[in-house]
Amino acid sequence: MPLRFDVITLFPALFDVVVEQGITARAHARGLWELHRWNPRDETSDVHRTVDDRPYGGGPGMVMLAEPLLRAVERVRSARPDARAAPVILLSPAGRRFDQRRALELANSSGAVFVCGRYEGIDQRFIDAAVDEEISLGDFVLSGGEIAALAIIDAVVRLLPGALSHELSAEQDSFGRSLSGLLDCPHYTRPEEFRGVRVPEVLLSGHHARIERWRREQSLRLTFERRPDLLAQARAQGLLTAADEAFLRRLAEARGEKSEGNGQS
Ligand SMILES: C[S@@+](CC[C@H](N)C(=O)[O-])C[C@H]1O[C@@H](n2cnc3c(N)ncnc32)[C@H](O)[C@@H]1O
Repeated sequence: MPLRFDVITLFPALFDVVVEQGITARAHARGLWELHRWNPRDETSDVHRTVDDRPYGGGPGMVMLAEPLLRAVERVRSARPDARAAPVILLSPAGRRFDQRRALELANSSGAVFVCGRYEGIDQRFIDAAVDEEISLGDFVLSGGEIAALAIIDAVVRLLPGALSHELSAEQDSFGRSLSGLLDCPHYTRPEEFRGVRVPEVLLSGHHARIERWRREQSLRLTFERRPDLLAQARAQGLLTAADEAFLRRLAEARGEKSEGNGQS
């Protein structure tokens, strides 16, 4: 059974992009994943197909009604073969921050049901009744959950076996297994010299072991400078080699710090 995403959204057309463009579209065409879209407007029974109303207690904006959303979830549940297993995920600034670990978990699952909010938000009674998990894309406010759901779908689908043309490339991305969860190194392509700046000589050497070491050190350097939390994580998981630690000590010394590594400086 391919990975399946169901999306409950007032703007189903926004999801055309993942089935029409790029890696996600190719993977979709090859049957690696399925997308099903559900519009809460189709679950209304009044002539205006109302999906929102004014907030109790006053205040600006509109709130999404619980009933059409709950009906949409029920419809998805009866349409999904794994109805019980797939989590109902609300995209929300109040949710847990999305990361590569959650992307991997979803890529190894049967999928999820995404609920995209709009307006001021959603009637809390729907959230309490039907939502298993809330996910945020970051500390900023989007106009709707669709862009967050699209980002998650893209991050997950590229991890599916066979989605990328080169088997290993997802693992060699930032946060990937081959990189011990660190940031990716810089990349270069032709020409050898661009506006006076040459490609690092080692990359032209054809010496695979030296190239690999250079890439690892660039990855360590970037992570040291920008995301020390990822270095600490890799160290705690025993993913840094003695050569990595020696390189990090040199970086720390150059900065006038002691390395946290194995207590030597
Ligand atoms: C305008 S926002 C509502 C913001 C809400 N009043 C608040 O302050 O938390 C409308 C919808 O966009 C989605 N959204 C906004 N920011 C998001 C984020 N950072 N991550 C995930 N979804 C987000 C949610 O589904 C939300 O219900």
